[in-house]
Amino acid sequence: MDQFTALAKYYDRFVGADYDKMADFIDHKIKEFFPSASLVCDIGCGSGTLTLALLEKGYDMIGIDGSVEMLSEAINKREEVENGEKALFLCQQLPEFELYGTVDCVVSTLDTLNYLTETTDLERLFHWFNNYLNPNGLLIFDINSLSKYQDVLDGHCAVYDEEDVFMTWHSRFEENLCRHKLSVFSKSGNSYQRSDEEQIQRYYSVEYIRELLNKYHFKLVCMVDDYSDNLPVERSQRLTFVAIKEN
Ligand SMILES: C[S@@+](CC[C@H](N)C(=O)[O-])C[C@H]1O[C@@H](n2cnc3c(N)ncnc32)[C@H](O)[C@@H]1O
Repeated sequence: MDQFTALAKYYDRFVGADYDKMADFIDHKIKEFFPSASLVCDIGCGSGTLTLALLEKGYDMIGIDGSVEMLSEAINKREEVENGEKALFLCQQLPEFELYGTVDCVVSTLDTLNYLTETTDLERLFHWFNNYLNPNGLLIFDINSLSKYQDVLDGHCAVYDEEDVFMTWHSRFEENLCRHKLSVFSKSGNSYQRSDEEQIQRYYSVEYIRELLNKYHFKLVCMVDDYSDNLPVERSQRLTFVAIKEN
């Protein structure tokens, strides 16, 4: 996979996500809907910040990601966390993934699901979610809204200029696909090494996600704006879903 290669080293610095808020939200939802849950799988765990935040909250954690570079950031980060070595990180390419057994909760955050650009792949992933969740298991994930792709990302260009790295990021949204073109210039001695990568995401509508949840026997228990207690509004950027596997 050539996404999240050059970016991996700088991901944590540029992502700008509130992982404490996400971890608190997930912890509250688990306590509300499946209080005995202990084993959680983080799908598309990336550099592992959320995986380790949930580990610190007392869950046994498995993180799965297809990027070796992102996972190596996650593995290095384990040392910063008490009992960090207990988090299991697996390099697997979605939509297929394989676990040793079933889990109580699956989480997938920061638009990881939008990276599955084939609808058949997203369906396959929901099949595996159902397969690997225990009865009454919880599925918590987010997707980017149409407003984020149309009003924020389309045509957006960002420049990050720091001591050791210079990065440009340009996004274009067309026919439900959002292409992010990144150029990363990493400082190496007196020169910069350039790496280019393209990330592609697909927009999925709420109706389609509802259909998938139904088809794979999940009951939607809440859909909120980002990781908050608020219902989504028209200009919500990120939609978070909480669903329970039906027996
Ligand atoms: C935006 S990052 C989110 C990372 C993490 N969930 C977080 O909250 O910071 C998306 C992650 O999904 C992973 N990913 C995207 N497509 C994938 C695929 N087909 N198979 C495995 N991992 C994938 C990327 O490697 C990346 O780490």
